Amino acid sequence: MSQIIIQGGKRLEGTLRVQGAKNSVLPILAATILHPGRTVLHRCPRLTDVDASVRILRHLGCEAKWEGDDLTVDAAGMSRWDVPDHLMREMRSSVIFLGAILARFGWAEMSYPGGCELGPRPIDLHLDALRKLGAEVLEEGGGIRCETKGLRGRELALSLPSVGATENAILAACGAEGETVLINAAREPEIVDLQRFLRALGCDVRGAGSSTVCVRGRRPTHDAEYTVMPDRIAAATYLSAVAAAGGEVELTGVDYRHLSTVTAALQEAGCRVAGEPDRVVLRSTGALRAIGTVQTAPYPGFPTDAQAVLMAALLRSRGSTVFVENIFENRYRHVDELRRMGASVSVAGRVAVVTGVPRLCGAAVRCTDLRGGAALLVAGAAAEGETAISEIHHIRRGYEDPVRDLRALGAEIRLEE
Ligand code: UD1
Repeated sequence: MSQIIIQGGKRLEGTLRVQGAKNSVLPILAATILHPGRTVLHRCPRLTDVDASVRILRHLGCEAKWEGDDLTVDAAGMSRWDVPDHLMREMRSSVIFLGAILARFGWAEMSYPGGCELGPRPIDLHLDALRKLGAEVLEEGGGIRCETKGLRGRELALSLPSVGATENAILAACGAEGETVLINAAREPEIVDLQRFLRALGCDVRGAGSSTVCVRGRRPTHDAEYTVMPDRIAAATYLSAVAAAGGEVELTGVDYRHLSTVTAALQEAGCRVAGEPDRVVLRSTGALRAIGTVQTAPYPGFPTDAQAVLMAALLRSRGSTVFVENIFENRYRHVDELRRMGASVSVAGRVAVVTGVPRLCGAAVRCTDLRGGAALLVAGAAAEGETAISEIHHIRRGYEDPVRDLRALGAEIRLEE
C-alpha cells in the first residue's frame, strides 16, 4: 500500500512551476478525435486520469505517444466508437468522449462514467444537449447508445452551467451542420482553453468564458500544436499549503486572474499575496485568522475544487469560518480525516464550520477523494509530527508529483511504495 509520509511544522519556501491543468487536458484529449490527423499537446500533466484518457484513445484506434510532457495524438486511424465499461469507470470525464465520438462518427456507445465520490453526479444535461442537437440517445442496461443521421446546430439552453455538459455540447456541435448557440454555458477557464484548442484545429467556436458559446459546425482543418493552460487548482493547493505551514512561495507559469477568489480568501486570512499575469508570490507567518463565509459557486465564484484545501489551510486560524458547498452534495468527506489530526469542523448538510485550533497533530489518515486528499497534504504540512496519508491513488488522479513539489519547497515528505 503506497503512502505519503510528511513531517509537518516546517516553514515552506521556494519556487514552483505549476503543472498543466487536469480539467483542461481531459476534454482536450477527447477533442483530439474530432481531427483525423495529428495534435501535439505541450505541458500535458502526467496524471492517472490522463493515462485513462490515453487508454481510451488507444482503444478507439488512435495513436498516442509521450515525449517528456508532450503528448502526440494521431486520430487518423480511429476505428471504433465504443468505450468499454472498465475504461468508463476510471473517471467521470470519460463521458466527454461521447460528444466527440458522436461528432466524428455519428454513432457512439459507452456505459455510465465512474468517479461519483462527491454524491450523485447525473449526466442528464449532457444527454439532453446531445438529443437537442439531433442524436437519438438510448439508455439501457447501464449503457448509453447514441446515434444520429446528422447533428444539427440550434439554440440550446443548459438549465445549469455544467462544465462537462458545456464541453460535450461544444464538441458535438463541432460535428453538426449549422450554428449552435449554447446559452447558460459554464464560464470556467478550462472551457476557454478547450475553445482555444478547437480553434487551433480550425474549428469555429466563439464566446467561451461568457455564458453564450457559439459553434459553427465545421470539421478541423489542420494538425495543431497546443500548450495546456496552468492548473489553477494545483496552484491553489500549493498556496494553501504554504499559507498553512508558513513561509514564502513563488508559483510560476500560472494565470493569476484564475486564482483571484482563492488569493482573496488567503489574503483575508492574513497572507500577503502579490501577483503578475503569470506568477504569484504568497507569504504567510502561518498564524492565520478566520474569514467571511466561503460559498462555492460556478466560475468566477469560489471553486468547489479548492474548498477542501482552503479549509485545511484554516484549521489553525483564529476564529470560525463557514463554508457553504453549493455544487456537490457530498464534498466534506475529508472532514473526518482532518478531525483525526485534531481539527474542529462541524458539518450540517452543505454547511461546514471550521473553528481554528492552536495545533494539529500528525496522524494516519486516508484520502477519500482527489481534493480531499490534497487537503490532507495541506493539513499534514501544518501539523506537528508525522502524518501518514494512505489511498493516495486519489491524489495521483490530479497531481503530477506532490511529493517532489512539496519537497522542492523544503517539506520533509516522502513516498513509501
Ligand atoms: C467539473 C470538473 C470538477 C469540478 C466541477 C465543478 C472536470 C474534469 N471536472 O466536473 O473538477 O469540481 O466541474 O466546477 O472538469 N449536474 C447535473 N446534471 C448533469 C451534469 C451536472 O445535475 O448532467 C450537476 C452536478 O451534479 C453538480 C453540478 O451540476 O451538482 C456541477 O457539475 P459539473 O459542472 O457538470 O461538473 P463536472 O463537469 O462533472
